[in-house]
Amino acid sequence: MSLVRLEGVTKRFGQLTVLDQVSLAIEPGDIVAVIGRSGSGKSTMLRCINALEPIQGGRILFEDTVVNDPATDLRKLRQQVGIVFQSFNLFPHLSVARNITLAPTVVKGIPAAEARRLAEEVLARVGLAEKIDAYPDQLSGGQQQRVAIARSLAMQPKLMLFDEITSALDPELIGEVLKVLESLARQGMTMMLVTHEMGFARNVANRVVFMHQGKVWEHGPARETLGRPRTPELESFLGSVLH
Ligand SMILES: Nc1ncnc2c1ncn2[C@@H]1O[C@H](COP(=O)(O)OP(=O)(O)OP(=O)(O)O)[C@@H](O)[C@H]1O
Ligand SMILES: [Mg+2]
Repeated sequence: MSLVRLEGVTKRFGQLTVLDQVSLAIEPGDIVAVIGRSGSGKSTMLRCINALEPIQGGRILFEDTVVNDPATDLRKLRQQVGIVFQSFNLFPHLSVARNITLAPTVVKGIPAAEARRLAEEVLARVGLAEKIDAYPDQLSGGQQQRVAIARSLAMQPKLMLFDEITSALDPELIGEVLKVLESLARQGMTMMLVTHEMGFARNVANRVVFMHQGKVWEHGPARETLGRPRTPELESFLGSVLH
């Protein structure tokens, strides 16, 4: 069974069709890089998978749960599908530990001592064990983003969605965040990430999805898709990004 299936998904904002009959499957262990020009629907696709946006046509399945069924328990779904954005959205008045333990204690009812151990474990996974009692403003942008990733990991999701999580970072901080993603990939985490880092897409992702005008324009194995574009649109896009 696929972890996620999009079946003919259509998403509109008013008159504007932003996702146009998008079909796609994500298998357990997949690292899917989503690329495409600004406005092509990349963020919207991720937000629909996490049910942050309603859809107007088609179906989205997470395992055997229909995400866009009004009867679906979205809280339960979102425990299994983590999402990290470009802006880290850490709570500035809470310590790193509390930022991480908040959802596990409140949503999952995990006892405080156990949540602390969980925070230690996920911080170690992002290489920030020593920052557990720091506050967000004492951390660099790259470190804050790694805490945001750790916070998502603390919910023990089956799928992680990353939307341009390195785009707001100074160039010298991008590498440390990409390294964390690489290590998650090696640990077998299934993930879908919108990225402009073509080197990362080529070397770490196993699949690439190229979005164009709300459609999955091309998709396939990462190296092949990036190395031998089949459409002029992908070729021109690849020519316009730095790599
Ligand atoms: N809440 C909204 N209301 C109306 N239109 C929206 C909304 N969110 C996105 N759009 C429109 O949907 C289209 C796709 O937006 P989306 O953010 O998914 O693009 P993207 O591929 O992520 O672009 P970028 O690379 O700039 O992040 C754009 O035309 C955008 O203006
Ligand atoms: Mg976007």
